[in-house]
Amino acid sequence: MKKLLLLVVTVLLMVMVAAAPLSAEEITPDATGSKLIALTFDDGPGKYTDQLLDAFAEKDVKATFFVVGSNAARYPDIIRRQYNEGHQIANHTWNHPQLTSLSVARIQNELYSTEDAIDNALGFDIGRLMLRPPYGAHNATVRSAANVPIIYWSVDTLDWKNRNATTVKNRIINGASDGAIILLHDIHSTTVQGTIAAIDELKNQGFTFVTVAELFSRKGITMENGVLYKSAPANGVDLGPVDPYAYDETRLHEHWGYEYICYAKDNGLMIGLSEDKFGPNYPMTRAMFATVLSRLSGESMSGYENPFTDVPAGEWYTDAISWAAAKGVVNGHGDGTFAPDDEVTREESAVMIANFLRYYGMDNSNEVLVSFSDQDKISSWAAKSVTIVVNKGIMNGVGNNVFDPQGTATRAQAATLLTKVHKLMQNTPAMLHTIAAESE
Ligand code: NI
Repeated sequence: MKKLLLLVVTVLLMVMVAAAPLSAEEITPDATGSKLIALTFDDGPGKYTDQLLDAFAEKDVKATFFVVGSNAARYPDIIRRQYNEGHQIANHTWNHPQLTSLSVARIQNELYSTEDAIDNALGFDIGRLMLRPPYGAHNATVRSAANVPIIYWSVDTLDWKNRNATTVKNRIINGASDGAIILLHDIHSTTVQGTIAAIDELKNQGFTFVTVAELFSRKGITMENGVLYKSAPANGVDLGPVDPYAYDETRLHEHWGYEYICYAKDNGLMIGLSEDKFGPNYPMTRAMFATVLSRLSGESMSGYENPFTDVPAGEWYTDAISWAAAKGVVNGHGDGTFAPDDEVTREESAVMIANFLRYYGMDNSNEVLVSFSDQDKISSWAAKSVTIVVNKGIMNGVGNNVFDPQGTATRAQAATLLTKVHKLMQNTPAMLHTIAAESE
């Protein structure tokens, strides 16, 4: 009996250990000696930020930008670039006050207005952002009013004080350690130059540059709202790169595109990546977009000639792309290729949608020209289509009268476009009549 009891207790203990969440100490450090470091930049965006982003793109560095809301509103194109290039955007308040001297309402106004400016720049709701309080000033009121992870630093380069690129470079290198969070300011040219100069040496020392969110995630630590973080543990742990497009689908109802995702799924316009995974933040490829758009027709896709050299026979998208080519919905790149696996750009999706509407006889003859502040970036072959889809209410700018023609579309954004095309068809009897006639 005693033996049995011991066995039961042992098994119970084993189950409890197995069920306990993994703490960073229990994760075996990897043998590669991988070291993770987070470069963080406050007070921007500014006129030198693009230079920094150019170097980061070339050297495959990811960083975190604690932006000031008023600057985010002034440089929306830089915010968009930071986001599109995989950097983390975080909050440094609207106009840099000492938060410890403000009421809860004013603290929250500082944070929410900055988040709104980011949303306006991106054209969608990015959600709550981590906070670095100006001057590092925080107390219990600030932490609880913010209700997001509060990010401090482990290395202060004092780059705002010593405006010397070599000094900044040396302080980054000397301060670097596994799990470190380095404080910098991208509004100073000397900081930008010093940072760029430090990258190669740190890479040679085995450092990987990650965002703050990725730093903690790769260390196996779940960040909590209202908690202050100064660094991640220097334990050599690296769980490996996280999928930048991953989205926790138990919270899909909180996603900005939820309504459209449901509509697209319910009406058979799009299916999930698997039974319980829609993948709202994954990029949409040209093949995916052409396929789902073609499916809207309800026509049979079989029996059309495949004109593209890089669209193999027998792929899941081959018939749909062949149909779309035969009906003038897609044109390919003019050299016999379609580039099915490339991410679809916003102007490419505009062209496919406009062609689709034209095929269904929608009259586009009296389009009123629309003009965006980045009109000169819209390719000549796409300009008319952009006008059509904007006038039909299917696409909008991404905010601030910017169209962002070469920006890419996520699956959630594609679901939004397809929903709008579908609703337009439902509300345009002539189009439905054409479709019904052709599918008989
Ligand atoms: Ni600051």
